[in-house]
Amino acid sequence: MHKLTPLISFIGAEDDNIDLFEGQYPVPAGISYNSYIIDDDAVAVVDSVDVRRCADWLTSLEEALGDSGRTPRYLIVQHVEPDHSGSIRAFIERYPAAGIVSTAKAAAMLRNFFEDIDFSERSVIVSDGDELCLGRTVLRFITAPMVHWPEVMVTLDTTEGVLFSADAFGSFAMSRSGEAWDAEARRYYTNIVGRFGSSVQSLMKKLTGLSFNTVAPLHGPVLTDNLAHYWKLYDRWSRYEPETDGVLVAYASVYGGTAEAARRLASMLETEGAGEVVLFDLCRHDVSYAVAEAFRLSKMVLCSVTYDGDIFPAMHDFLHHLERKNLRGRKVGLVENGSWAPMAAGIMAGMLGKMKDMTVVEPVVTIRSRLHHDDTAAMRALAKAML
Ligand code: FEO
Repeated sequence: MHKLTPLISFIGAEDDNIDLFEGQYPVPAGISYNSYIIDDDAVAVVDSVDVRRCADWLTSLEEALGDSGRTPRYLIVQHVEPDHSGSIRAFIERYPAAGIVSTAKAAAMLRNFFEDIDFSERSVIVSDGDELCLGRTVLRFITAPMVHWPEVMVTLDTTEGVLFSADAFGSFAMSRSGEAWDAEARRYYTNIVGRFGSSVQSLMKKLTGLSFNTVAPLHGPVLTDNLAHYWKLYDRWSRYEPETDGVLVAYASVYGGTAEAARRLASMLETEGAGEVVLFDLCRHDVSYAVAEAFRLSKMVLCSVTYDGDIFPAMHDFLHHLERKNLRGRKVGLVENGSWAPMAAGIMAGMLGKMKDMTVVEPVVTIRSRLHHDDTAAMRALAKAML
């Protein structure tokens, strides 16, 4: 527990032994489920935590209440996803008189997760722009549908200037992480919220002009300094605009022939001055890191072996992710490998064709089993075409 302001304390929980967050994302540095208490005349708690850390959370909550004998008047449920709603049952059991503040959509969704709990007596439904006075603190609720589920709202403490931002501005990190925010926040954003860029833009429009000095998300560090930096990155990511001029060379290789071609092309791109060049082995690193790099950089070269009359599974998975995350507006080079019937380039082009504003550049390079001396001219031409 630590204080954000004289009335607001962080009471979230750290999780440093989860194998995969949301069943798919590696979090080598752990992740936090953030929760906050506003200790005003009426006590409000902003979101619960994943049931994995329910006991820690309840302990922090009790600690924050101290010996005052006071109990929470409200639990504000900004987002119903179980990493934030998982401990609602335990909260209600301990504080049965508390109201559950949420959007109508959230109230309906809560019934799906807790069908045996009667929320009707305790439900406090709020709409966009509604305010709740806790004493000195006035909270304003701002709906944020599809950031990242339909029921989401964020909450502005208009008194202290604290924006409780739900999943927005969250990160794959513990709350006290000393690491730079950008990389793990980018990986969190692009993989979890990335599909909903237009919804994030809508929320950012609503927040423009409102006054706040602290952003308190549901994962990772609370942001206080240099908010303009985080805002600028969020704006860029949600517009699908790259941050850096450079090329992601992503490859999927069986026996090393395609990997060799990818390495050679990366070297040619560096020689040609193609900006930052990142070589990425899709078979050996989690796809979430590749998705984040595809958002960050302005261009991609995709190198895949032909496999089972298709592309290699790791490349298929990568392109499927990019399509579902709505990535758009990238210049893309293709290198295919095939020992007897190369067909990877056509399949990759077909998958890119389902995305907006993807430009496949010529020449498409075809290699047979391994890179040969005769392939050099085409490889160099592709490197130049990527500039
Ligand atoms: Fe951290 Fe969308 O839940």
